[in-house]
Amino acid sequence: MEISNLVNYENHINDKEQFALDVLNGLSRDEKMLSTKYFYDDKGSELFQKITKHEDYYLTRTEYEILKQANKEIANIISEDEVDIVELGAGDGHKSKLIIEGLLESGKTVNYYPIDISAEAMKQLEQVITPNENLQVHGVVAEYFEGLRYINERSRNRKLVLFLGSNIGNFNRHQSHYFLQHMWNGLEANDMALIGFDLKKDVEKLTAAYNDSSGYTKEFNLNLLERINKELGGNFVPENFQHVGIFNPKIGAMESYLLPKKDQSVYIKSLKKAFHFEAFEPLHLEYSFKYTKGDIETMCFDSGFQVAKHFTDKNEYFIDSLWRVVKA
Ligand code: AVI
Repeated sequence: MEISNLVNYENHINDKEQFALDVLNGLSRDEKMLSTKYFYDDKGSELFQKITKHEDYYLTRTEYEILKQANKEIANIISEDEVDIVELGAGDGHKSKLIIEGLLESGKTVNYYPIDISAEAMKQLEQVITPNENLQVHGVVAEYFEGLRYINERSRNRKLVLFLGSNIGNFNRHQSHYFLQHMWNGLEANDMALIGFDLKKDVEKLTAAYNDSSGYTKEFNLNLLERINKELGGNFVPENFQHVGIFNPKIGAMESYLLPKKDQSVYIKSLKKAFHFEAFEPLHLEYSFKYTKGDIETMCFDSGFQVAKHFTDKNEYFIDSLWRVVKA
């Protein structure tokens, strides 16, 4: 497996500064918030893996079952003999492996370009993807669209972009629209995208998924406070906050908050600033948007794609929607 690292060292030095700025901005607002992009340090990624394997978090296993069924049909819908798969946020590769196998079994040649900001994720992926004479793997360590641009300069084949795992759900409507348009802009007519959407469902089921009985989601959220302590010299006491995961029907999203159990001040050394938290004043962490089939079709159309096919499970908990790029 070839790996191209586009993350430039200069920028990397500034990551901590960006983290500090985002924390300053988020905690200075009237409605305090922290960005989900900082969830995934080593401990956060480990906790997220535990969440995805937990009985209450149905999303990962449901999508896996969908793709196990759908991979041959996806391979049939793509008529070309050689396909470039571009995966945005490669994760552990178990689900992409199913798509790759479907294409290889139908006799196609596959060039797989996983893009991930973490070089570590790329190394783990190497262990999951089985070598095959008709498969070339070229990992790209980069931000999504920087990686897509890099691949476009090399790719000559029909592209299939994978954006799985309901990652799109962590964007709000405006961000997801921008993201999809950006993706469309980087693709040619008839290229395809397979996007994982978590569907709206029984609120109890949703709530259980974001309040798992082993407390991993709670730890995952509190880990962000620990990360601020570790990297920015904060003095958060995580035990002083409770985790709340609730469904907001007005926007159709699970939302997670940390609620201070009592009035307290937190000092962050690298910002040279103290932040006051009133008891029960919400600190917003995450949106996980949920969709109807209609929502998905509107998003598809509005961003310049056409639905080729929806793949769902027997409970209709999740959809992997296969889209085709339309360009006049
Ligand atoms: C990564 N993302 C799709 C997960 C989700 O379901 O929104 C993150 C997560 N947060 C809590 N549990 C899982």
